[in-house]
Amino acid sequence: MQVITTISEMQQWSQQQRRMGKTIGVVPTMGYLHDGHCSLIERAAAECDAVVTTIFVNPLQFGQGEDFERYPRDMERDTTIARAAGSSVVFAPTTAEMYPSGFATTIDVGPIAERFEGAFRPGHFRGVATVVAKLFNLTQPHVAYFGQKDYQQCLVISQMVRDLNMDITLRILPTVREQDGLAMSSRNVYLSAEQRRTASLLYRALQAGIDAIARGERRRQHINKRMQEILDQIPDARIDYAAAATAERLEEPDEFPPGASVVLLLAVRIGSTRLIDNMLTTVPYD
Ligand code: PAF
Repeated sequence: MQVITTISEMQQWSQQQRRMGKTIGVVPTMGYLHDGHCSLIERAAAECDAVVTTIFVNPLQFGQGEDFERYPRDMERDTTIARAAGSSVVFAPTTAEMYPSGFATTIDVGPIAERFEGAFRPGHFRGVATVVAKLFNLTQPHVAYFGQKDYQQCLVISQMVRDLNMDITLRILPTVREQDGLAMSSRNVYLSAEQRRTASLLYRALQAGIDAIARGERRRQHINKRMQEILDQIPDARIDYAAAATAERLEEPDEFPPGASVVLLLAVRIGSTRLIDNMLTTVPYD
């Protein structure tokens, strides 16, 4: 496995792969790889001839006072994991390489980026869309792999790919969970032992929402309340949102009709750690 840090080398490698008729899969990450990332790399390796795992903690998607500085980083560990999971290349550029002085262009995908995460983290999805567009240009993938864990991010990237006619297939793979249901995330390392124990209530809250819908609840506020009640059991928690929304556009009708695809979205701060999670379901017919 090769480690590439410069844009010119990355583009040359991608062009060469394409000239040889190879399919390229890309797995964009911010590093500190866990089993969720591995599931993406493994799938990419199974489906593509060559796999690029990108590792870049993107300053553009962090707001003032967020955890950019303390975001966990361990390149040696990451390259070992990326190699074992089947990467052909790790692309790990510096910030100066990605954003040289004078850099000014950003991508704004419109309303889908303004709700939920977008409302609590203004500018976050502009940073995500911009860096992902750059990573796509540099790695020239046929297929790009993302985790459902970042559900709204997946919608933002789908919108960008569609609107800008990017010739890339997106694969969204299921969230990988710890035994107690906590979604794997690089940020889980911030949690103390006690916080880690209660963090599984996010999963329980989502399940409570899913159960309510399965039992016939269609009223959005009632579904939200079911999730909220579980999250309220977490000491030291601040709920940014616990919300049911339409899966495609993240709209919030008073009631979901039978057959509707619904996503349950959570963002909860436990102490200074902000966790997000989600689950998808379909409203049953009577
Ligand atoms: O999901 C992430 O890790 C990041 O948002 C991404 C897609 C790598 C862009 O920096």
